[in-house]
Amino acid sequence: MIPVNEPSLGEQEMLYVTDCVRTGWVSSAGRFINEFEERWAAYCGRRYGIAVSNGTTALQLAVASLGLKPGDEVIMPSFTIISCALAALYNGCVPVLVDSDSRTWCMDVTQIEKKITPRTRAIMPVHIYGHPVDMDPVMNLAEKYGLAIIEDAAEVHGAEYFSGRNTNHSAWRRCGSFGTLSCFSFYANKLVTTGEGGMVLTDDTTLAEKVRSLRNLCFQPNRRFYHEELGFNFRLTNLQAALGLAQVERIEEIIARKRWIGQEYNHRLAGLEGLQLPAEEPWARNVYWMYGVVLSEETGMDATVFAQRLKAQGIETRPFFLGLHEQPVFHQRELFLRERYPVAERIARQGLYLPSGLALTTEQISQVCDAVQDVLT
Ligand SMILES: Cc1ncc(COP(=O)(O)O)c(C=O)c1O
Repeated sequence: MIPVNEPSLGEQEMLYVTDCVRTGWVSSAGRFINEFEERWAAYCGRRYGIAVSNGTTALQLAVASLGLKPGDEVIMPSFTIISCALAALYNGCVPVLVDSDSRTWCMDVTQIEKKITPRTRAIMPVHIYGHPVDMDPVMNLAEKYGLAIIEDAAEVHGAEYFSGRNTNHSAWRRCGSFGTLSCFSFYANKLVTTGEGGMVLTDDTTLAEKVRSLRNLCFQPNRRFYHEELGFNFRLTNLQAALGLAQVERIEEIIARKRWIGQEYNHRLAGLEGLQLPAEEPWARNVYWMYGVVLSEETGMDATVFAQRLKAQGIETRPFFLGLHEQPVFHQRELFLRERYPVAERIARQGLYLPSGLALTTEQISQVCDAVQDVLT
């Protein structure tokens, strides 16, 4: 079986993790935490990084730090992981959905403005499968309506966006540099992994302090076991940060490998009838976190059947997200009832991603592409 993903861990990872074991710094204090936070924040062009236990808790703390009121609204795509909606709901906020762009599969930014109400407080753009959201319109709306941006960059480590493209201050900027708060996951399938882990980035000193405090049970600096706020234990360990630091040190190599895999697939699958390949808009630099494909309905096959047939040929795949508006857990809570997002619905049924791990060889890519072609024809 060619696995859908595998982490790539090397000697440096071994060295840093061993250092934690040797020195006994295995919990949430130790040099690797600070170094990892600083390195990742600097890489993304931000002032502060706060490492947390995973990407879901990063989003939850980002929303919490804004001090929103019950019933405040956060606009996000339907086509994303449930963590985005949970981050709003756990803070008493209401997730408000928009559909996806049919080329990039990221949120359709032209639908945001009509979802803005007097209760809207934040927009949560989620970069999907390695491709950036078209951020300029999001930034403009946030400014126009005084909204915060909680950027979910879990799937786009190192991806870039050409901002200000019709202005005289245009520039390529890394994903994670746009949000009032930007969130990352370092789960094992991400470009940079800590096993489990996450981070919140911001340039705002007050928000950074707030996230830091919430992460650590809101202990007070001067009087430790005296609490004025409800906090969480969402700390990352030094062991995990050690892994993360070693990974960040070779981020360029990881990105180059992912882009190579993406381009190999693009090249070999180009022109296949009935298969939509990942986009790379002129204003985007895709890192192909996962190489997604969407089958056209004319093939008479959906992603479930496609996946079964690929599996029979030794190819592991993963289905695309099922939109938030189709999740039974939310219907039971009377959320998103009768809402329709046609693009999200179609790609959820017709989309899957192919093996995208860093260890993938040219031969394996050929094998996957032959199997795809075979199943399609
Ligand atoms: C877009 C996005 N946001 C958030 C998360 C949640 O991250 P984690 O699995 O680390 O909680 C993920 C998933 O891995 C994700 O893909």
